[in-house]
Amino acid sequence: MNELQKKVIDLKNEKGALILAHYYQTIDIQEVADHVCDSFEMARRARDAQEGLLIICGVRFMAESAKILNPGKTVLLPSPDAGCPMADMVTPEAVLELRRRHPGAAVVCYVNSSASVKAVSDVCCTSSSAVKIVRSLPGKSVIFIPDKNLGSYVASLIPEKDVILYDGYCPAHNNITEADVTAARAAHPGARLLMHPECRPEALRHADYIGSTAGIIEDALATDAESFIIGTESGVTERLELLAPGKTFHPLVSAFICPDMKKTTLADVLESLERGRHEIYLSDEEISAAGACLERMVAIG
Ligand code: 13P
Ligand code: SF4
Repeated sequence: MNELQKKVIDLKNEKGALILAHYYQTIDIQEVADHVCDSFEMARRARDAQEGLLIICGVRFMAESAKILNPGKTVLLPSPDAGCPMADMVTPEAVLELRRRHPGAAVVCYVNSSASVKAVSDVCCTSSSAVKIVRSLPGKSVIFIPDKNLGSYVASLIPEKDVILYDGYCPAHNNITEADVTAARAAHPGARLLMHPECRPEALRHADYIGSTAGIIEDALATDAESFIIGTESGVTERLELLAPGKTFHPLVSAFICPDMKKTTLADVLESLERGRHEIYLSDEEISAAGACLERMVAIG
């Protein structure tokens, strides 16, 4: 641990705070976190937290979800402009228009979305829970927002459902082409290819395993393979290098980075603890409107 990390841990203990970090955060932040999580586990841990102060090292929708699920707590987002470009691709108006065009279809909303979009949806999901959640719905038709790639992956596994897609995507994952995948396969013959479902279908069809950030890590640790190609953000590759130093992890492309996830620095985390920055404020109306959709996700997923 370096000096800055020790300061963060001391202050965290003094304030009785809980630090939750996503796997895409830098390793110095992952090392001071109480829990390093995928987005489903982050939501669940935030909901169940007993601590009065939650520091969310990730992007805005994660901190908003924490506040919605546990509104009595103070929730801080150390880097206030860490957003998710995919979450910004859909508005409540667009969801309401889809509802008008497809009456009777349930709206499944990827957790990578704003509180106002969650408020007009029926149930949230994450990449680890999406299949289970869509399968659990009683009707045949489902509007899946905003990620067209995750939505088409889910649709491919549940052919009995009619999944209506929206044209949103994650810029980092959608950037991966089928040619990138074949080039990585050629460069690392025999390596096991693990991919995140936010990648395009034509790239995903080459994968040996498709799952959330936590699922990718579990697969890499559990299988006997010694060499892996990691088809998601670099934070996951770096964490695997820490957890399994005897195995080899190749990023699917060089610089597989989510710029927003990398906005948070360890110095921001310290400042957040020292000065209470940057608190998430949502109105009671916003919390109750978006809460049902998130609570359903945690209960089913
Ligand atoms: P996970 O739920 O797999 O951690 O994904 C979060 C995310 O933003 C992926 O880009
Ligand atoms: Fe959003 Fe993509 Fe970054 Fe995940 S990796 S937070 S989906 S922009």
